[in-house]
Amino acid sequence: MASAESQIAEDDFLCSICLSVFTKPASIPCGHNFCFDCITKCWDSKNPEFACPLCNETFSSRPMLRVNTIIAELIEKFKKTTLEKSSGTVEEKQAGEVLCSICSGAKLTALRSCLECVLSYCEKHLEPHQRIPTLKKHKLIHPVEDLESRLCDKHGKPLEMFCMTDQIFICEVCNGNCCRSHTIVTIEEAAQVVQTQFRSQMKHTEQMIEKRQQKIKEIENSLEASRNNAGMALTCSVNAMTAAVDYIKRSQAELTEIIETKQGKIENEAKGFIEELDLEIVQLKEKTTHLEESPGNDPFMYITNFRSLGIIQPQVKNWTLVTLKWTPFPAQGARLRATVMREVSMLCDPDFKEKQQHAVDVTLDPDTANPNLRLSADRKEVTHRKRNMNPPNDPKRFDLVFSVLGKERLCSIRCYYEVQVKDKTQWMLGVVNHSINRMEEPIPENGYWTICLRKGSEFTANANPAVNLPLRETLQKIGVFVDYKEGEVSFYDVDARVNIFSFTGCNFTEKLFPFFGPGPQDGGKNSAPLIITSVKHP
Ligand SMILES: *[C@@H]1O[C@H](CO)[C@@H](O)[C@H](O)[C@H]1NC(C)=O
Ligand SMILES: *[C@@H]1O[C@H](CO)[C@@H](O)[C@H](O)[C@H]1NC(C)=O
Ligand SMILES: *[C@@H]1O[C@H](CO)[C@@H](O)[C@H](O)[C@H]1NC(C)=O
Ligand SMILES: *[C@@H]1O[C@H](CO)[C@@H](O)[C@H](O)[C@H]1NC(C)=O
Repeated sequence: MASAESQIAEDDFLCSICLSVFTKPASIPCGHNFCFDCITKCWDSKNPEFACPLCNETFSSRPMLRVNTIIAELIEKFKKTTLEKSSGTVEEKQAGEVLCSICSGAKLTALRSCLECVLSYCEKHLEPHQRIPTLKKHKLIHPVEDLESRLCDKHGKPLEMFCMTDQIFICEVCNGNCCRSHTIVTIEEAAQVVQTQFRSQMKHTEQMIEKRQQKIKEIENSLEASRNNAGMALTCSVNAMTAAVDYIKRSQAELTEIIETKQGKIENEAKGFIEELDLEIVQLKEKTTHLEESPGNDPFMYITNFRSLGIIQPQVKNWTLVTLKWTPFPAQGARLRATVMREVSMLCDPDFKEKQQHAVDVTLDPDTANPNLRLSADRKEVTHRKRNMNPPNDPKRFDLVFSVLGKERLCSIRCYYEVQVKDKTQWMLGVVNHSINRMEEPIPENGYWTICLRKGSEFTANANPAVNLPLRETLQKIGVFVDYKEGEVSFYDVDARVNIFSFTGCNFTEKLFPFFGPGPQDGGKNSAPLIITSVKHP
């Protein structure tokens, strides 16, 4: 009952201008009621015509307005009852749903929002907008929550137009004020434009997605190829190594047999010689036993005996030219080992080959050379000599240590170069950063990443703390590889193709330069030069 009552009341208490329950209801001479402010505003704007917005009855002069106290009281009562009622039944609003601004109590879902009224209406409260001519002119839109945002900040009018030039919403007043050169369109037209843009963007996005899908396929294919290759490489290397091991084992067996056979013959021959010689010794001894040592009592018999035995020498061999002949077997183990290791490490470190692809040309920078160093004319070799002149002062020069830098900074992301250290007992190689102190200890903290050889056998990486390295006798050439981005400096034994040492996780922030320290002559033992050699790709 209460609900029916309040519904009737609510409907009757609506101002047909603002479509809200009357505030300060005022009756005009034709008998219709409006909010005091609504009708005042209406007539203010339509001067000099004073008509009823509902029935069109015109008045010759502006009617005097007074608040209708009876209606006002009724409204007060009505508000109280609906408030009591609604306090329990506030309808739960669903996300995105806009509620009718007019419904009191349980609010219904709004069907449209009116930009003129700045209100949203349910089906029932929308009706006046479909019936009353003045209201019919109002611009209705899909219901929205924040209607204020649809109004012009400056003029309070609905934002119905869009300035394509400034890309902003404008109201009709703005439009009037707007520069003529600007392109103004309705919001609907602007939406069309945006839709067109969106479609072309969609097309572009689709193309981008397609390209990425193609990329995935490409990567997958490449991965597949890589897998196949890795599998093949694995099979090949296993086969090759098994074959090599078999071959070596077989060869070893054959070689053993050959050596043993040969040695057997020699043993036999020696044995024969010795037996023969032993026999002759026996014969020779036998002969002498028949002779007495001294003539004794019967000199006549002594002489007769000697003559019968002694004159005839036993038949013995002339041994002067006889020797046990044998030729030494070649002891080529070291070479074999080096060769096999080189070949195997070539199989095992395919990365080294990749690193060699980053070979750069390096020459020495005379401006940085210690005065006791001699550089070759092509700036590829450096060795120690006696100081014979004072070069010009240069802050870049190494005054105290026998060092020189490369002229070219290592500017690529990856660089590789090789230096010959053959026949040297002392040297230091590596890279340094641009602002090294030339007097400081050569450790990474000071911008030095180096390895060095001292006293012909002490092989060290100048890390902090220093790392002792195993030295191969065959070490002749050092490969230096720098990966600036990864922060890596690696050293290789080029001939053995093995990694000697790597500094990793370095924090390069400056330019890097190759560093060369040939060390002192050391009485001629270390007079061989350090030579930057060209990189031969295997
Ligand atoms: C009211 O007057 C306007 C013109 O002022 C006219 O367009 C409209 O049809 C009239 N409405 C009624 C209900 O007479
Ligand atoms: C043994 O042979 C060598 C060389 O042929 C010869 O010089 C030497 O006289 C020979 N000795 C005897 C005892 O015949
Ligand atoms: C480069 O060397 C200077 C001087 O030794 C040092 O202060 C600086 O930290 C070094 N830079 C890097 C990145 O190691
Ligand atoms: C590298 O440098 C960055 C910034 O200078 C620093 O935060 C980081 O600790 C450094 N790393 C090493 C390993 O020195």
